[in-house]
Amino acid sequence: MSPIIHHHISSLRAALQPYRGQQSGRQDRQQRIALVPTMGNLHEGHLELVKIAKQHADIVVVSIFVNPTQFGVGEDFDSYPRTLDEDVAKLATVGADYVFAPSVDAMYPVLPPPTTVLAGAISNQLCGQSRPGHFDGVGIVVSKLFNIVQPDVAIFGQKDYQQLAIIKQLVRDLSYPIEIVGAPIIRADDGLALSSRNQYLTESERQVAPILHRELQDLAEQLKDGGISQQAFESLLADKRTRISEAGFTIDYLEVKTEALGSVASDSTTFNIENENIVILVAAWLGRARLLDNQLVVVG
Ligand code: PAJ
Repeated sequence: MSPIIHHHISSLRAALQPYRGQQSGRQDRQQRIALVPTMGNLHEGHLELVKIAKQHADIVVVSIFVNPTQFGVGEDFDSYPRTLDEDVAKLATVGADYVFAPSVDAMYPVLPPPTTVLAGAISNQLCGQSRPGHFDGVGIVVSKLFNIVQPDVAIFGQKDYQQLAIIKQLVRDLSYPIEIVGAPIIRADDGLALSSRNQYLTESERQVAPILHRELQDLAEQLKDGGISQQAFESLLADKRTRISEAGFTIDYLEVKTEALGSVASDSTTFNIENENIVILVAAWLGRARLLDNQLVVVG
């Protein structure tokens, strides 16, 4: 069955109200609502989030909104693919119940909105360094979606690892009564993480793109036993940067962080990765596409 599309906040709210069971006062009519926020141009990675949402809730709402506040000047807001009809058809195959596809005016009566949701230190590193203000834009749109849909649970992909960490922080700090579920990265058969931006790749770039994942896996393999000197770690990382650059990428960052995106403790001789899991994160340009990937390393 095709999901029901709402373009307005008020009509979506009215449609969802009966599921909350508050009007009838009958507990047995209360159903769990899941939200899957997206910018559309859906692929298998997004559809997987919907399948996971269905395991956590009775009603699944997918938002499709290319959010202007998270795009910087000169970024691809205007050219970002908008494919609502195809998206809705895909969502029908995985049983989404509602699509919320608002206009920019409906979401932002005043643009840019004078109210900000600042993600703080966690957002200034990694993607935040090359995309200043990006995560503040994500913060405000996700806050708005949470307030509009008032879901019991929301699903986000681990592909955008930093985004997921920021959303968890937002929920904690603003006391949203919402469970956040992180979903595994869905990849093409050759290992490339699926992304709406992969379509910016030319055919030959598409052949090269999976190298990013392969190099991350290789680095993960070398780090997983822990106990490595600071010097050995730095030369490993330098080697990876060289290999990725030589394949044709322009690296934005390649970094190793703790699971919570803190710095890995190190002294002059040892890189202390024995005691906690780490995550390797990369962002790199290949032609017109900025590709993101990461690999969690369970150490020990
Ligand atoms: P978008 O890039 O459309 O991604 C929507 C959701 O799908 C995010 O949670 C993202 O992590 C997840 N996702 C994308 N590719 C994936 C893959 N290959 N495997 C698993 N999950 C994947 O992220 C955004 O939109 C926006 O920033 C948003 C949160 C909607 C706020 O505007």
